[in-house]
Amino acid sequence: MQAFRRQGRRYGAGLVCSEMVSCAGLEHRNERTLGYLRVGRDEHPLAIQIFGSEPGVMADAARMVVAAGADIVDINFGCPVRKVTKTGAGATLLDDPDRASAIVGAVADAVDVPVSVKMRRGLENGSRACLELGPRLVEAGASSLTLHPRSAKQMYTGEADHSLTAELVDLIDVPVIASGDVTSRARAQAILATTGAAAVMVGRAAQGNPWALREILDGDDGEPSREEVVAELILFMRETVRELGERRSTGFLKKFYGWYLGRGRFPRPFKQELVQLETLDEVETRLLAAAPGAAEVLERLVAELPDGEDDVVLDLPISIYGGG
Ligand SMILES: Cc1cc2nc3c(=O)[nH]c(=O)nc-3n(C[C@H](O)[C@H](O)[C@H](O)COP(=O)(O)O)c2cc1C
Repeated sequence: MQAFRRQGRRYGAGLVCSEMVSCAGLEHRNERTLGYLRVGRDEHPLAIQIFGSEPGVMADAARMVVAAGADIVDINFGCPVRKVTKTGAGATLLDDPDRASAIVGAVADAVDVPVSVKMRRGLENGSRACLELGPRLVEAGASSLTLHPRSAKQMYTGEADHSLTAELVDLIDVPVIASGDVTSRARAQAILATTGAAAVMVGRAAQGNPWALREILDGDDGEPSREEVVAELILFMRETVRELGERRSTGFLKKFYGWYLGRGRFPRPFKQELVQLETLDEVETRLLAAAPGAAEVLERLVAELPDGEDDVVLDLPISIYGGG
């Protein structure tokens, strides 16, 4: 999400990545899919991730996301969700090295920006497929690989086994990014030191908690004030509405209340209360009543954002490809 990426950049993330964008959705100019291609000028460097199973369609999608402003095209070979894997995309490709290499080759030929790949370790628990596939993807044109060393079957259970990340680093000459269970500076340092990875990627730890990035980057583990928490949450809500529209946002945002307001920051019943409110305006009003000083923090945050939304959102590349 753009709201999440921009927030990550403000808290020091060196590179942010989009959620996965369907190459079939791009091919068919699906309105919701094209909506993922909003790129703000405060997001760069930005990787946009695409998923699919047909090399030619993936190559077209790669051209489109570069036209939308991607500095890196990232390819998803990790998504374990059935809706994606049953189409031969996502983690399925870990088991189909010929097709996976053909996709990377076609995408690398289609664009001038670096192409990276995000992988899981393999489909089944204990699989080492990523170690066989990784070098082939580099040969096919991948400039870096990100490994989340859980199996597709594991989803998010158990632990990421970063001994595989270390093995992958030894096998290839391009940067490896370690993803999975990076929750603190201590954890990030341990993973970097034991794997030789070039960077770490932070996922869940930053959901509703951009302060985790500050801690990971600088060791600054000061808890945010209630005013800061509420201001960041309200800004996130407003940006989400701009991105998804009010109707889709109302349900979507509910899980974020717990992520922002938990961790001992606000009493539990407060979250329950917010979840039950019907409109986002009501939620905002209730949040500001709980932390009146947040209004001023919010004003400052908004003032520091780039001018006007029209300046920030690039034209969608529909006009370029609309004839096809
Ligand atoms: C809600 C959610 C959505 C995700 N979406 C994507 C995605 O679109 N593409 C991708 O490569 N990984 C995706 N991931 C996986 C993360 O990039 C990451 O590899 C995984 O969460 C492990 O890292 P973490 O422990 O820091 O969360 C997603 C994870 C979560 C929790």
